[in-house]
Amino acid sequence: MNKVVLFLLVVFAIGSAKAQEVNIIPAPLKVTNGTLQFRIDSKTKIIADATSRKNAEFLKKMLSPAFDLKIKKNGGAGIILKQDNSLKKELGNEGYQLKVSEKSINICAATQTGIFYGIQSLRQLMPVDITLCAEALVIKGVDITDSPRFPWRAYMLDESRHFQGEAFVKKVLDEMALLKMNVFHWHLTDDAGWRIEIKKYPKLTEVGSYRKDSQVGAKKWKSEELAGMPHQGFYTQKQIKDIVAYAAERHITVVPEIEMPGHSSAAIASYQWLGSDKVLTEVPVKFGKKRDNYDVTDDKVIEFLHDVLSEVIELFPSKVIHIGGDEINYDSWRESEKIQQYMKDHGIVSPPDLQIQFTNGISKFIESKGRRMMGWNEIMGIDIHTERGEKKYDDEVKTELAKDAIVHFWKGDVGLATQAAERGYNIVNSYHRFTYLDYNYNSIPLSKAYSFDPIPEGLAEKYHKQVYGCGCQMWTEWQPENDDVERQTFPRLAAYAEVGWTDKERKDYVTFRRKLDNLLRRWEMKDINYSKNFEKKQ
Ligand code: ACM
Repeated sequence: MNKVVLFLLVVFAIGSAKAQEVNIIPAPLKVTNGTLQFRIDSKTKIIADATSRKNAEFLKKMLSPAFDLKIKKNGGAGIILKQDNSLKKELGNEGYQLKVSEKSINICAATQTGIFYGIQSLRQLMPVDITLCAEALVIKGVDITDSPRFPWRAYMLDESRHFQGEAFVKKVLDEMALLKMNVFHWHLTDDAGWRIEIKKYPKLTEVGSYRKDSQVGAKKWKSEELAGMPHQGFYTQKQIKDIVAYAAERHITVVPEIEMPGHSSAAIASYQWLGSDKVLTEVPVKFGKKRDNYDVTDDKVIEFLHDVLSEVIELFPSKVIHIGGDEINYDSWRESEKIQQYMKDHGIVSPPDLQIQFTNGISKFIESKGRRMMGWNEIMGIDIHTERGEKKYDDEVKTELAKDAIVHFWKGDVGLATQAAERGYNIVNSYHRFTYLDYNYNSIPLSKAYSFDPIPEGLAEKYHKQVYGCGCQMWTEWQPENDDVERQTFPRLAAYAEVGWTDKERKDYVTFRRKLDNLLRRWEMKDINYSKNFEKKQ
């Protein structure tokens, strides 16, 4: 081909790609704009096959502020929802097609999740406030074929440091659904509070869900200032079931995180025998890494953890159960004669080996229940906290982490990610410098959040498939009020949604930023306290 012709073709292709944009976040895979339009009015029918009934009801409710639409099993024109298993190959488990023409709006997918996502896209094609439409909602003609880049698109909420409560969680789940995020990673236990009712061990919430004060102050970890009031809260099992069901209706899996063997002060304060030091009687009021860990050499402690996990597994249908495993201070193990003796007797050469052996036992238990374990990347036994002088163990660690574990990568370099991949692990990338929502907007402005690539730069292509996707993490030590959590979360949540869903080639920050205005208006209407200063200050 003549070079000039090729150049013109490329220019034309770029030009038309730009023209084929719709106001949808995350940006869909393929978009072709049509010339005609569909009018939704009070006579429009929702036509849904029997399996799509729930989605039809969701759509009906979504449109109810403007119109009270009827749902029918079959019929001619209208908004048609259709599950078609033959689309599986093209669209996968979460993809969909959305076609808007003069006669009908067609949403097809191989699964109900796909149809749900088609509805979410349709929702974004509508005016933000549909009650303002006079007689009809006009949807411009378009043909969208869409599916995600990654199967794991998560938001993590830390309810241990500050408890946000049921209404807040549901609010976030609603926004996740709109953005096609599919994993709500629920950080329910930590040093600062135990937030889930466990029937067999009532003191976990009687004692562990209450702390008499909380650290505050500009100097953060070094601060001696306290809030001057107690903090408490937990979820009953009934509430948990309700939230899990609410999430499932929005095609979101709730992955519970129960921290072990570190970040366990709230549990140890409830039952001292769980600890290695066995001295803690109150939930600490200061945040940061704590000294004590579960005494994993004690059979009774292992039995406790199995009991807790059994109740957790009953409550959460998620295939994946997160066990934390990060930031263990090994001092309490190092300084316990009993634990040192155990290690000698069992030929365990280092504290990380003890942690891995323990973690492997937990992995086996979780597998025996048909589930799969996930943990922060310390579970591999490679130190990422060089500042703590624990690096010396790296060469000594002999124990190999169970192969089925999912490594939740939050700290470390591409070498570490490569080691995890070489050893065959699946990875979820939550690299802290790009995805921690507790970091302020100066260190992670919206554009930086948007620029995150879950495939670490330099990871060999043969390992890319092992990366399931990404998470963004809302740690709440320094976010005491729900308004603070909202400000940290929004609008960055939208950026992470696009990071997880949209192919790299389709990502464009300028376009994303323009489309975001619609979402900001939506959030204003819902009284969501999104940050107004989401760009880096110069
Ligand atoms: C972590 O931030 N400690 C996972």
